[in-house]
Amino acid sequence: MKVTEALVAEHVVLHNMFDYIERVLPTVRTVAEVRLLAALIEGVLIEHARAEESLLFGPLAHCLEQIGQRDTFELEHHEIDACLSAVARARSIREARRLLNAAIVACRNHFDHEERVVFPLAERVMKGETLAKLGAVWTKQREAAVA
Ligand SMILES: [Fe+2]
Ligand SMILES: [Fe+2]
Repeated sequence: MKVTEALVAEHVVLHNMFDYIERVLPTVRTVAEVRLLAALIEGVLIEHARAEESLLFGPLAHCLEQIGQRDTFELEHHEIDACLSAVARARSIREARRLLNAAIVACRNHFDHEERVVFPLAERVMKGETLAKLGAVWTKQREAAVA
């Protein structure tokens, strides 16, 4: 499996999780519950973001630089982290819900941006063999995380 395929598959799983959270969020009654949902997203996203940064953004840095987007995607990761952390500081259920919704929208836009720019770029400039090797590294990292 190519690393780009693995990362897109993770986006699909995350979109499904966001769909569920968006459905239940209006029924959640306490800030503590919203914080738990934010922590869940944070926990899943961290491994995904780490894999992207080491397996794609690093090797593609010079190509991303040429299109003026060298730091864009890592910056978006930091912005999403900041949005999710802000949920922990919310003082009302209304504010917590608004912040979590904003974090989910930021994630969805970020995934879309990667799927339009980074993954097609990787498919263009990297050999199929390289993408498969990086996919094998991704699999090893996931297996290590489960173990
Ligand atoms: Fe990302
Ligand atoms: Fe991603």
